[in-house]
Formats: sequence, structure tokens, C-alpha cells
Amino acid sequence: MATEIAGSVALVTGGNRGIGEAFVRAFLAAGAAKVYVGTRDPDNARHLAEEGGDRVVVLALDVADPAQIAAAAAVAQDVSVVVNNAGAFLNQRLIGAETMDAARAEMEVNFFGLLGMCRAFAPILKANGGGAIVNVLSSGGVVAVPAMGGYSPSKFAARAASTSIRAELAKQGTSVTALIVGSVDTRMAAHVDGAKERPEDIARIGLSAIKRGADEIDTDRMAMEVRAAMARDPKAQERALARMLDMETISTGR
Ligand SMILES: NC(=O)c1ccc[n+]([C@@H]2O[C@H](COP(=O)([O-])OP(=O)(O)OC[C@H]3O[C@@H](n4cnc5c(N)ncnc54)[C@H](OP(=O)(O)O)[C@@H]3O)[C@@H](O)[C@H]2O)c1
Repeated sequence: MATEIAGSVALVTGGNRGIGEAFVRAFLAAGAAKVYVGTRDPDNARHLAEEGGDRVVVLALDVADPAQIAAAAAVAQDVSVVVNNAGAFLNQRLIGAETMDAARAEMEVNFFGLLGMCRAFAPILKANGGGAIVNVLSSGGVVAVPAMGGYSPSKFAARAASTSIRAELAKQGTSVTALIVGSVDTRMAAHVDGAKERPEDIARIGLSAIKRGADEIDTDRMAMEVRAAMARDPKAQERALARMLDMETISTGR
């Protein structure tokens, strides 16, 4: 199920900065007819509206708010590609945190937000000929990272959901791509030392995955290394990641 980017109508959640912003620019550069920039605060996407002119439509869209998802779907009836990029990482531990609030919030955005978007836009994608959903996931959804607390379980859940949604939407011709992302130079990874990928490189690989209708791809070297380490010796990988709990700074090791 291949999807052309030129002429497509894309919606990117969390499109105001980081990887989402890079996706917005990549769609525009590749000739998308329109890009909806989902953002919690429309003021934060004003620069993209200026860059993209009448091809950019900014939408107030907090994916943790079902009413805002419904309102976005009511407006964006012409969408053919949905990029579920919005993500929350609150840097807490599962047991060490005082409450479960951070873990719940991460699940609300990274899992329920993504699921809510898929449910709201599935009929729209169907009406527009099939199209594509891209879920921006993480190596933390391939191997549990204890230092990431509730983030890792939320990405595991989103990855499993991606597999199930792909099966459910196959008959309507919608491709569902899980992008497994390593470490990228954005605000979310500001606490991580070492080499990080550029957001624009993740977006470029994401667009190529949409064009091919890929099911799941590793977007970068770290993502590939994590998967290789899991295949080689999963217990050694888990022990190595557990040691990160005692480290003062987290590093990509490069
Ligand atoms: N950076 C990495 O190393 C890395 C690695 C693997 C996966 N990822 C994934 O990549 C995606 C993008 O993250 P990033 O690296 O670009 O981080 P980022 O710069 O922190 O951007 C996160 C984006 O998500 C938005 N967001 C957060 N909660 C939201 C909500 N409830 N509703 C709508 N938007 C919300 C933020 O909006 P505001 O500006 O309003 O806060 C922001 O636009 C996430 O899904 C993340 O898990 C990142």
C-alpha cells in the first residue's frame, strides 16, 4: 500500500517543534498539497504557517483531549496521511516516582492519544482512498528502559496497537507504519549526551516509509543497534539498560 507524498494532505501531531516540525517541512518540500500542523498552542506554529503560506493550516490539537481530536477530525476531512508524532516523556521512574501521575500522563499522550487519532481519522482516510498512518515510536518500545519510567511501557503499548490497527485497516487500504526511533537532537533528548540524529533525517526516512507503505522500520543507527543487541543477547541488553538507573548522565555511548 504505497502512498504518494506529492499532492497528499498530511496532518502531523506535535508539529510545532522537534521531529514533528521536521515532518511538516519535509511534507512541504515533497509537494504535499496541504499540511495540518497539530499543536497544543497555535502560537507555537506561527512560524510554519509563515513558511508554508496557504498550504499550512494550524490546528489546536492536544491529543490527550478527545474533544480536540473530534474537532480536528471535523475540520480536516481531506487528510490522507496522519503522522502521530506528539509524545510525552516526563523523566520519572515507575517505582521511584512519588505518584503514578507521570506514567498515566505518558500513557494518555503516547498510547491513548495515538489510538484516539487513529480511531477518529480511520474513516476519513478510508473516504480519501486509504492513505497512511505513521506512528513515531521509540527503541524504548522495543526494549524496556528502566530509567525512562512510564515512557517505555507507553511506547510498547503504542507499538502493539500499531500492529493491531494495521491489521484492522488493511481492508480499507490504509498503511500503518511504526517508526522505531533511537536518539534525536530535540528538547525531549536534551538530557541525553553523545551522538543524536537530526530530526530532518528521521522525517526523510519517515516519508520514504510512507511511500513504500512499510510496516515497521528502524530510522537510525541507534534503533538498529538496539534491535541487533536484543537479537544477540536480550538478557545482556536488559542488564546494560538496568545499569543506566545508577548513572548520573545518560549517553548514547558515541
Ligand atoms: N528525541 C528523541 O530522542 C526521540 C527518540 C525516540 C522517539 N521519539 C519520539 O518522537 C516524537 C517527537 O518527539 P521529539 O523528539 O520531537 O520531542 P519534542 O521536541 O519534545 O516534541 C514533542 C512534541 O510533542 C508535543 N506534545 C506533547 N504532548 C502533547 C499533547 N498532549 N498533545 C499534542 N502534542 C503534544 C509537543 O508539544 P508542545 O510544544 O506543546 O510541548 C511537541 O510538539 C515523540 O513521540 C517521541 O516519543 C523521540
